[in-house]
Amino acid sequence: MWELLSVLGALTAAGLLLGAAWGVARAVYIYLLPWAGPGDAWIRAQGAWAVVTGATDGIGQAYAHEFAKKGLNIVLISRNMDKLKKEAKEIERLHGTDTRVIQADFTGGLEIYGAIEEGLKGLEIGVLVNNVGMNYSPLFRKLLDCENPAQTVSPSTVSTNMTYNAKTGLLVKSPQDWAEQAVHTLGLSSHTSGCLSHAIQSLDSQVFVSGGVDNA
Ligand SMILES: NC(=O)c1ccc[n+]([C@@H]2O[C@H](COP(=O)([O-])OP(=O)(O)OC[C@H]3O[C@@H](n4cnc5c(N)ncnc54)[C@H](OP(=O)(O)O)[C@@H]3O)[C@@H](O)[C@H]2O)c1
Ligand SMILES: *[C@@H]1O[C@H](CO)[C@@H](O)[C@H](O)[C@H]1NC(C)=O
Repeated sequence: MWELLSVLGALTAAGLLLGAAWGVARAVYIYLLPWAGPGDAWIRAQGAWAVVTGATDGIGQAYAHEFAKKGLNIVLISRNMDKLKKEAKEIERLHGTDTRVIQADFTGGLEIYGAIEEGLKGLEIGVLVNNVGMNYSPLFRKLLDCENPAQTVSPSTVSTNMTYNAKTGLLVKSPQDWAEQAVHTLGLSSHTSGCLSHAIQSLDSQVFVSGGVDNA
């Protein structure tokens, strides 16, 4: 009886250790080995254009620059035409890629999509950063429960206007730092926090437990 129990105990401990080792190995692979990812050529091969909603500030702006740095042309979508034009110019100046801007307010109804479709016509789009969002409460709340979070990036706190420009450090990341790391997780995980610090903070179940690698 005792022997059976100790064998069961040893097996359980081995299983837990293996699970933890797998979680750590995956975290290292996804977040600490940027060159493990498929690389810039693979990203460019998905299509010449990246579309970023909410592209003129914070996380979307940082993503737009990150993909332009990798040689993609960028479609910027948000509400303010002056900000859009200024940001598009800045991307062209800094990274030498093409841009297009589309003015749209996502609090509108289905009528906004005609102009978006028109603006995207003829483009070979490889990347969509569907980032637009707004704060409607002083605390973060869950608006939608996604049944399948694959194609999802869930950061913890990134210092933007939305988070009252929180001071950056170990826990809070600047949008630039965060987006650079988040882009490195492309192709490695179907659901990511974007960076190691945020993965640890959320103990992301995909990363640390089930480890389902499929897509970006
Ligand atoms: N910051 C964080 O810690 C954090 C954490 C988790 C998730 N997120 C999510 O990340 C996304 C970006 O957040 P952020 O912190 O980068 O926000 P942000 O700095 O406030 O930037 C928001 C961007 O979206 C545009 N925008 C806002 N409302 C819009 C609307 N109704 N229609 C079209 N464009 C609109 C803004 O430009 P205009 O004002 O010119 O339109 C701006 O470019 C949001 O979905 C947010 O929920 C953020
Ligand atoms: C920052 O957020 C506040 C509301 O939280 C908003 O009134 C203001 O317009 C935002 N500033 C910018 C530059 O988007």
